Amino acid sequence: MILTPPERFYAGRRVLVTGGAGFIGSNLAGRLVELGAQVTVQDAFIPDCGGNPYNLETVRDRITLHRADLRELETTRAALGGVEVVFNLAGQVSHIDSMARPREDLASNCESQLALLEVCRRVNPRARIIYAGTRQQYGRPQYTPVDESHPLRPTDVNGVNKLAGEWYHRLYAQLHGLHTISLRLTNTFGPRQLIRHDRQGFLAVFVRRSLAGEPIRVFGDGLQLRDLNFVDDVVAAFLAAGAAGPERVPGGEVFNLGSQEVLSLREIAELFVRAAGRGRIELVPFPDALKGIDIGSYHADFSKIRRVLGWEPRTRVEEGIRRTLAFYREHRAHYLAAE
Ligand SMILES: NC(=O)c1ccc[n+]([C@@H]2O[C@H](COP(=O)([O-])OP(=O)(O)OC[C@H]3O[C@@H](n4cnc5c(N)ncnc54)[C@H](O)[C@@H]3O)[C@@H](O)[C@H]2O)c1
Repeated sequence: MILTPPERFYAGRRVLVTGGAGFIGSNLAGRLVELGAQVTVQDAFIPDCGGNPYNLETVRDRITLHRADLRELETTRAALGGVEVVFNLAGQVSHIDSMARPREDLASNCESQLALLEVCRRVNPRARIIYAGTRQQYGRPQYTPVDESHPLRPTDVNGVNKLAGEWYHRLYAQLHGLHTISLRLTNTFGPRQLIRHDRQGFLAVFVRRSLAGEPIRVFGDGLQLRDLNFVDDVVAAFLAAGAAGPERVPGGEVFNLGSQEVLSLREIAELFVRAAGRGRIELVPFPDALKGIDIGSYHADFSKIRRVLGWEPRTRVEEGIRRTLAFYREHRAHYLAAE
C-alpha cells in the first residue's frame, strides 16, 4: 500500500472520532485503523441519526468504543486523554428533523460541541480538533462557486446550530489556543450512510429507491446544482487536515470541500438509474417541509484546501454511485432493517 504523507502521519498515534459509528465517522475510523492509528470512537447512537454498530463491524476488535453522548463529561474526558487528533463528526444532520425537533438539534450540534471543547481545553489542550462543518452554513448562495468569504445566512435550524458549533471551535482557538480546523462539507455519499428513512438528504433516498427499482423523485425542475463528494474523498480531507500542524494551518481555519464535477439533481438521478440498471426519474413539486429551507443551486470553491493541504476529490460521481450500490446490495439487511 503506497501511502500519502498525511496517511503516513497516523501510524501509532492516538485519535478520537466523535460520531464514529455514523456514516462518515465510521469510514474515517476504518481508514485510521488501516493506517495503524489507535482509534477511540465516541458515539451516542442518537435515534434517527446514522449511528449503526454494523458500520464498525470490520474494526470492532481494533477500536475502543464509548457509547456515550459528548455531554457525558466523564466519558468524554476519558476518551480525550492522550489523544493527538480529534475528528469531531458527532452531530445531527437532518435539516427536516432540525425544524421538527429544534432542541434536539441544538443538543447535538451546539451543547455537545461546547462540552467537547470545554473538556478538551482542560484535559488535552494540545490536541488538534477537526470539525465537520457544512455547506448549509452559507444558506442560499448569493454567488457560485461559494468561497469561504461568502456570507453565512443559514436557512434552517440545522444550519444555524452547525454554524454556532463551528464558531465555538474558532472561538476556542482564538481565546484558548486550541488547534481547531473546520471542514465545510458538501453533500457526501457512499457506503454506511443511513438510508432507512427519507430525512437524511436526497442522496440516501436515491440510494434506497435505486436498490428497490423504484422511481427516483426529483423535487422542482431538477436543475439545482450540487457538487457531491464520495465518502473516501471526504475521509482523505479529514486525514489531511488532522495531519497538518499549526505551522501549516493556524487554529480556527475553515476550508470548503467541493468537487470539479458540478451536476444537476436530475443528472445525478440519471446516474443512479444508469448504475442500478433500472428505475426512472419523476419530477415532483417540492414538499412543504422543504420549500422554505431549500438553498437552490450550490457548488463550492475549494481552491483553498487544494492550495493549503493539497486535497482534491478523486472519485468520479458515477464511480462512487457504482461502489455505493454494490455495498448496499451486499449489506442491505443491516441498513434497511426496522429499527
Ligand atoms: N453527510 C453529509 O452529507 C454531511 C454534509 C455536511 C456536513 N456533515 C457533517 O458531518 C458529520 C457526520 O455526518 P454523517 O453524515 O456521518 O452523520 P451520521 O448521522 O451518519 O453520523 C453522526 C453520528 O453522530 C452521533 N452523535 C450525534 N450527536 C452526538 C452526541 N451528542 N454525542 C455523541 N454522538 C453523537 C450520532 O449518533 C451518529 O452516529 C456531522 O457533523 C454532519 O453535520 C455531513
